[in-house]
Amino acid sequence: MLPSPALSTRMRAVDLIRKKRDSGELSREEIDFLVAGYTRGEIPDYQMAAWLMAVWIRGMNRTELAALTEVMLHSGQVLNHSDIPGKKVDKHSTGGVGDKTSLILAPIVAAGGLTVPMISGRGLGHTGGTLDKLEAIPGFNVNLSLAEFRHVLRECGMGLIGQTAEIAPADKKIYALRDVTSTVENVGLICASIMSKKLAEGIDALVLDVKTGSGAFMKKEEDSVRLAEVMVETGKRMGKKVVALITDMDQPLGRMAGHANEVWESVEVLKGRGPADLRELSLELSAWMFFLGERTKSVEEGRRLAETVVATGKGLEKLRHGIRLQRGDERVVDEPQRLPQARFHTDVVSSTAGYVRIANCEQLGTALAMLGGGREKKEDKIDHAVGLEFHKRIGDRVEKNEKLVTIHYHSDAKLAEAKSLIVGSYVVSERAPLEKQPLVRRIIGA
Ligand code: URA
Repeated sequence: MLPSPALSTRMRAVDLIRKKRDSGELSREEIDFLVAGYTRGEIPDYQMAAWLMAVWIRGMNRTELAALTEVMLHSGQVLNHSDIPGKKVDKHSTGGVGDKTSLILAPIVAAGGLTVPMISGRGLGHTGGTLDKLEAIPGFNVNLSLAEFRHVLRECGMGLIGQTAEIAPADKKIYALRDVTSTVENVGLICASIMSKKLAEGIDALVLDVKTGSGAFMKKEEDSVRLAEVMVETGKRMGKKVVALITDMDQPLGRMAGHANEVWESVEVLKGRGPADLRELSLELSAWMFFLGERTKSVEEGRRLAETVVATGKGLEKLRHGIRLQRGDERVVDEPQRLPQARFHTDVVSSTAGYVRIANCEQLGTALAMLGGGREKKEDKIDHAVGLEFHKRIGDRVEKNEKLVTIHYHSDAKLAEAKSLIVGSYVVSERAPLEKQPLVRRIIGA
């Protein structure tokens, strides 16, 4: 809740920044003062950015984290969809390169009989965001009013929107600021950001996809597990069913990273095609959503239901309906040329023959952002047409001069720099890697 004017006059942002800078513990009232003041526009970006950096460096304890999550959650409305029959479930990913599963599983799960009221984010750091991807579809509106959102949910069982002035407004502002101030990769800030949005959605159950590896915010598996545990605990404390899958992000998910090309690849999966890893993870996450939403008695049954929804074309039909209701051009489903297209393309080829390793998946995301697929400043506009197409996966054989990546771009300005990041992301070695990492590494909270 917002602090009383009396409280506001006693506190000063500068003192709270100093307190955190010096490793102090902030009280709930102090966190409330900062978050509410920033959300209302009374505390400027530079003070919030300084506080976020102090948190990034000094960390928060569990009490501060719980307070931040709750204050951010209650910065707006907490939705109640009890008038819509059935269980409401959602999924959220901590972010990766080429991670487009939301566009696939929301229609699968809605077509399978549950309601998916999804509040997503924009691109963050080197990772892509669902909202930006959806906006690659001409006309698609992610800024629905609450009444429109509820109408869409009732009509087709899924709605995909961003944080608004009504729902999770604190995360809307803080998220955009973190993106451009290098304050993303922090367990407490990620947990508060994700859980404040998700708990505001009025859901019964939540599946978390916590990425791990060189393309994730948490590079080490033990850090991803810690993040997963904190989020699962937060959700359960609020009375939700929550499970977290720790999944691989040592390489991009699927063959495409970008916006328009990720929409196209998602449609491919809903048509029963598309790359195996993307299909497998989308079905697995859908299966857990069906299970937690009590639509099926087991995860295995959930997987079978997800497969059937895809095979019968019901998932694709649901996507079409969802796009139509959110005022997008549903013809993109059959006519991908209606999605934004880049004017030029160029290939990055291997300089030697051998087996592919990806040394730095984050750099691939950074290269894409540099080409216009991400933001350096809050005001930057995304170029939905630029993208990367990956021809090789870890462990694949590659010959000398064979294509590793195709870059789809508009301007030469940052091309050389982006290209060198991509070249530096790959290592080609003489020997094949001994073991293949599983896509789902661990499950927390099952
Ligand atoms: N996704 C979010 O919504 N917030 C974060 O901080 C990271 C990923």
